Amino acid sequence: MNGGAPRLRRWVCHSGHMAKVAVVGAGAVGTAIAYAAQIRGVCRQLALFDLNADKVRAEVLDLNHGMQFTPMAQITGSDDLRVCADADVVVITAGAKQKPGQTRLDLAAANVAMCRDLVPALVGLAPDALLLVVTNPVDVVTYAAQQFSGLPPHRVFGSGTVLDSSRLRFLIAEHTKVAVQNVHAYIAGEHGDSEVPLWSTATIGGVPVQDWGSAGENPLDEAARARIHHHVVRSAYEIIAGKGATSLAVGLAVSRILEAVLNDEHRVLPVTSRLEDVHGLTDVCLSMPSVVGRTGVQRVLATPLSADELDQLVESAATVRATARNLGL
Ligand code: 2OP
Repeated sequence: MNGGAPRLRRWVCHSGHMAKVAVVGAGAVGTAIAYAAQIRGVCRQLALFDLNADKVRAEVLDLNHGMQFTPMAQITGSDDLRVCADADVVVITAGAKQKPGQTRLDLAAANVAMCRDLVPALVGLAPDALLLVVTNPVDVVTYAAQQFSGLPPHRVFGSGTVLDSSRLRFLIAEHTKVAVQNVHAYIAGEHGDSEVPLWSTATIGGVPVQDWGSAGENPLDEAARARIHHHVVRSAYEIIAGKGATSLAVGLAVSRILEAVLNDEHRVLPVTSRLEDVHGLTDVCLSMPSVVGRTGVQRVLATPLSADELDQLVESAATVRATARNLGL
């Protein structure tokens, strides 16, 4: 048996065909997703679309030139949307990006408008695909994409707070000096300023964060938690101020979501999707820990919340809903 067989299994869907991911937008985020997906061997076919033909050609060349060092994949790109045809998952990253000083919600009008024609065209080309939205404000754009696509809500979801939760886990791990893999904690709500850290269910090696520490000292006391929350919310602003865009971590986060889908992992990830009576919230896209597999969002978990967390979640939902309503959604 050579070393290729386990790798091959990762490329092939349950149906036996070679999984195809199409990434719409070859900017910093789209190419980081493609790069992470290539390195992790997420799919057998990877297609990049961008309106800028020179840019997409250059990115595809750059990725292909590293193929010797990664699991095998066929990587193509074009300024013709037909490159996305018959994809299993279409990842939408195109659109206006945050400039220093802007919030994600400031991008809503431009990016929802962009989706109005783009999403139906993508559904026409890849009618069986799941749509995975990354474009910000991801909760509002996911809501719009679900409406414009006419697809059932479980097939249209967004990267949501998967990255924010990873930032939270990193900061808790750093603060407590425990490996990030042993920290379990979610950010729920908007992927943005109103996001909600779910401290009441956060654990480190099975120990609730409220009980972490010894001799009456808790390094994760209320003040430390508030500081960590603030850092998570400010993370993207800090990175945008320093390098113009966030890209590498979101690339890894989205490629992890793609793996959960294509390998039908039933993985719990805080993606954003249209809620139906989750903690009383309905008809709004928000992140909650959700079971993700080959059919998309298979279940949204009504994770237990403290009264304060519920209040914050309701407020976060109101912010996202108001932005969507202002755009006539
Ligand atoms: C991020 O959180 C900007 O939404 C992007 O990195």
